[in-house]
Amino acid sequence: MKQVYLDTYGCQMNVADTSRMELLLFHSGYLRTGEVEDADLVLINTCSIREKAEQKIYSLAGSLKPLKEANPDLILGVTGCLAQQEGEQMLQKMPFLDLILGPDGVENIVQAVDEVRNTNHPVVWTHFDSAKNYRIPELSNETPLHPGPSAFVNIIKGCDKFCTFCVVPFTRGREKSREAEEIEREVRLLVSRGAKEIILLGQNVNAYGKRGLDQPVPFHELLYRVASIPGVERLRFTTSHPMDFTRECIEAYRDIDVLVNHLHLPVQSGSNRVLQEMRRGHTVEEYVALIDALRAEVPDISLSTDIIVGFPEETDSEFEDTLALMERVEFSSSYMFCYSPRPDTPAQDFPDSVPLSVKSARLQRTMRLQDRLTGEQGRRFLNREVEVLVEGRTSKRGADFKGRNPQYWMVNFTGDREMIQPGDWVTVVVEEVFGHAFKGRAVSRVREGKRVDFKADAPAAIE
Ligand code: SAH
Ligand code: SF4
Ligand code: F3S
Repeated sequence: MKQVYLDTYGCQMNVADTSRMELLLFHSGYLRTGEVEDADLVLINTCSIREKAEQKIYSLAGSLKPLKEANPDLILGVTGCLAQQEGEQMLQKMPFLDLILGPDGVENIVQAVDEVRNTNHPVVWTHFDSAKNYRIPELSNETPLHPGPSAFVNIIKGCDKFCTFCVVPFTRGREKSREAEEIEREVRLLVSRGAKEIILLGQNVNAYGKRGLDQPVPFHELLYRVASIPGVERLRFTTSHPMDFTRECIEAYRDIDVLVNHLHLPVQSGSNRVLQEMRRGHTVEEYVALIDALRAEVPDISLSTDIIVGFPEETDSEFEDTLALMERVEFSSSYMFCYSPRPDTPAQDFPDSVPLSVKSARLQRTMRLQDRLTGEQGRRFLNREVEVLVEGRTSKRGADFKGRNPQYWMVNFTGDREMIQPGDWVTVVVEEVFGHAFKGRAVSRVREGKRVDFKADAPAAIE
């Protein structure tokens, strides 16, 4: 068999796209390798959300040039959002590349590679798929035999929000939902092959059902439908947008047992002026009201978010408003970024007199605040029992396994290596908190509905 080396940058959507390409390529005779030197085909699945991501890819692709020179048969390709954004330009900058393929080309990866081989010419495929519907073709034979305990399922692609700072609407194209029946079919298949946790995936999952469906189904209804599939023991989704977060979504959190008590809901800024300039479509007050309504129904829900500091002309006091909002909501974790101007986006033309040094200092302050908030949240779990879906072994010192609790904390824990395997449910007593992670020890295991208690040295409080 030939070998393919796949490298992935960016969000979960890219991770899912890479898996899909791996699968399609596997069926056309390529086995994945971890050694780039052994590969007949090298694909870098790229991100262009911030400038740093872009620079990293250019220098990585450049570093692969000698491989290509040493082996002219090697096919070197760039896929994903940066490929979409740059298209032909990328080929001009790096003529040694053989393939430039946008995110909508994932399904055609095999044909694209064949075309390169047959024509001996570079191929640039960056057109968006023009079909009204979003379908992921027949999966049954192609879904990995062992998807792992936690599996992603795409439910929607693209984004129509056009936030003024964001490239995604340009790199991933228009929003289209995937037919609910097809989603359910994929979930059933994944569960039958060992998945316990399903993560519904999209840039804007709660816009699900608005476009591209023959039989429209709103997002909350999809949640109920997926949750009712036997074998779905945990359900998550990412990412959602405050604008599309309905009362029915809040009720779904209250009513669906397997829907975890965690929500990632990006807010970006705590200033109404900045939110408006970003075109987020909601105010700070509306965001807070939403969180309050959710917490009224699901008191122990943990919340995480994305924050951008240093948006054009952000003032000190607007920045302070962001810190105040973080304190008010008590996020358990945040992804925090310095604003980065992106091609094609309106915000890149906004005047901006805020020096970079001020922006960096603001980023440091949000990070320090988030560290404190994370610590405060984490300490609430100390000496308590948490339910963990075992993902696998860990290389972390002083721990054997890792997994996550419902609130999405990473849990590293000690446990009997003979007794625990990926996909088990274990109860872990939390003994230490490090950043957004716990360290603890397993006290019991549930596998196929049967519980086994491990000998514990000391009794622990039951949560
Ligand atoms: N669809 C999601 C987020 C997608 S991108 C949403 O609407 O919330 C992930 C995060 O990257 C964003 O939430 C934002 O915080 C950050 N981001 C996007 N564009 C950026 C830019 N130009 N500069 C800095 N951060 C950016
Ligand atoms: Fe980007 Fe906004 Fe769409 Fe999120 S909702 S992907 S931030 S345009
Ligand atoms: Fe990056 Fe594209 Fe995801 S720009 S964040 S890989 S949608």
